[in-house]
Amino acid sequence: MSINIESLVRENIRNLTPYRSARDDFDSGTLLDANENSYGSPIRSSLNLHRYPSPTQDQLRDRIAEYRDVERENIFLGVGSDEPIDLLMRIFCNPADDSILITPPTYGMYKVAANINNIEIKSVELTDKFQLKPDEIIGEADEKTKILFLCSPNNPTGNDLKRTDILKLVAKFKGIVVVDEAYIDFSKQESMAPFVQQYPNLVVLQTFSKAFGLAGIRLGIAISNPMVIDYMLRVKAPYNINKLTADTALKAFDEMELAKFNINAILDEREYIAEQLSHSNAVKKVYPSNANFILFKIENAKEVYRKLADRGIIVRYRGNEPLCEDCLRVTIGMPDENVKFLKALKEIVG
Ligand SMILES: Cc1ncc(COP(=O)(O)O)c(C=O)c1O
Repeated sequence: MSINIESLVRENIRNLTPYRSARDDFDSGTLLDANENSYGSPIRSSLNLHRYPSPTQDQLRDRIAEYRDVERENIFLGVGSDEPIDLLMRIFCNPADDSILITPPTYGMYKVAANINNIEIKSVELTDKFQLKPDEIIGEADEKTKILFLCSPNNPTGNDLKRTDILKLVAKFKGIVVVDEAYIDFSKQESMAPFVQQYPNLVVLQTFSKAFGLAGIRLGIAISNPMVIDYMLRVKAPYNINKLTADTALKAFDEMELAKFNINAILDEREYIAEQLSHSNAVKKVYPSNANFILFKIENAKEVYRKLADRGIIVRYRGNEPLCEDCLRVTIGMPDENVKFLKALKEIVG
């Protein structure tokens, strides 16, 4: 199926004259164009913090493109991956008219962003094994369903979605298919990023918040075909990625050994926690995880959640999500934190 991306874009966005930032034409010389403070910042920094950052962040996009085996034109950088989730809705969905489709239980921001943008939300629940129902999804979508959000590994369930199901949907769905890979580096599954060369309607989301351990810098990535990326660049705020964030992200690439070491440590701890949880009589099910958290079903989950909090251990109650009755989600912590969590749980449920 060939898909015309341009025809999916909202008319006002197609006709948009984007803001031209001060640095689009010249970024060196005697810079008296942007009403910056030429006297400088009181904070000492080699980053020239009194100057606006690059509007396009080409150096960082090149570095990420190399890492993910795509081109700079395939990369958009956002303030976390929550920014691209919102931008995609603003580019493709007419408020009060179009819809998105989600597959609960899944990441909550798709729904929140749709509600903020006044976009209808269609849902097709995952199977009881937390896998997609491709035929039902295609059946539920109509010509106004502009974006399908898939999350693999999925939050809060932790499992990978089957690659064959995702590819079937990318090929059949007549809109944009977002595959949110926030947790991909904890999975054995390869990223779908290279598939953007083949499928113009595929957008892969990634983030520096999880495997890179940089939630504090707020840097997310959308990987897609150059036309979708170009629309995202036109619609974003002119200088969305600040210099401190870009500089830190570039430095992270010099520390990949340590990042990979930490990922492996998280995977070892994940196995340990899963095993320990499975020994508890109160724990009814430990769901296999390919992410940095584990979902488990436990008797009286809400009460257990509160009692853990009373002991200073904060996990996430997910029992209100479809298919997640009596479920808690625990992030893999440092070894001493994990021991504390398991010990407290044992005290509570025996
Ligand atoms: C599936 C998923 N996508 C995106 C995000 C948001 O990540 P970011 O910190 O990049 O905004 C999260 C955060 O928990 C997530 O679980």
